[in-house]
Amino acid sequence: MRTPLIAGNWKMHKTPSEALTWLGDFLPKLSDQNPNADVLLGVPATHIAAMAARAGGGPLGIAAQDLSAFDEGAHTGEISGAMLRDAGATHVIIGHSERRADHHEDDATVHAKVAAARRHQLVPIVCVGESEEERDAGQAEAVVLRQLEAALGDMAFSDAGQLVIAYEPVWAIGTGRTATASDAGAMASVIRDALKRTLPAVADGVRILYGGSMKPGNAAELLAQEDIDGGLIGGASLQTDDLLAIATAA
Ligand code: PGA
Repeated sequence: MRTPLIAGNWKMHKTPSEALTWLGDFLPKLSDQNPNADVLLGVPATHIAAMAARAGGGPLGIAAQDLSAFDEGAHTGEISGAMLRDAGATHVIIGHSERRADHHEDDATVHAKVAAARRHQLVPIVCVGESEEERDAGQAEAVVLRQLEAALGDMAFSDAGQLVIAYEPVWAIGTGRTATASDAGAMASVIRDALKRTLPAVADGVRILYGGSMKPGNAAELLAQEDIDGGLIGGASLQTDDLLAIATAA
């Protein structure tokens, strides 16, 4: 009942012109293969307007990778939700572990950004995930639940489509190490159960993604897990054929 969501995360890769060349290759193939999944691409803010115009409301959606917690004002270098939305983004990745690490984003910042996204009708893709030390110490579930609870607080969602959660174990991101499908699926179920407690009206419809070295060779097994409804894909989203292979595996 949940349509899978395959979301690329380009991180800081490709220039705007390279991105348009990439789309020229990707969009016809996406239409041809017509996967049974929603497909989204998280791109640098500089790319959003041109890519959204080119994708033109078709089967590929464009997402931002971050947004400001503020709506407007004297915040040099920041990009607001209104700007991203007007440029053509529909979703925004929030609380990615690289931002938590590189930019010291804590749970309170993540919560403020989720609120900002909602004020501007952007669907937040809220990233949660434990580090290797936390997993080894048996803390994985506790960390993920803490991050989830802090990110959402007591926000209300009237429609399951207004929220996406991405479970991304930090030790699996960009490392080539993937969580086993059963471990990833178990954590997705823990997240679903938490949502059922806090957001009972929408929990069954919220899409929970797995992220961390998902690629064509392992996607089908991960996506077959009951509570994994898609992927957040870094490295493999840079190649059109890899992203398509994952989308068609969904
Ligand atoms: P990866 O990145 O697929 O390159 O591991 C995933 C992510 O960081 O979202």
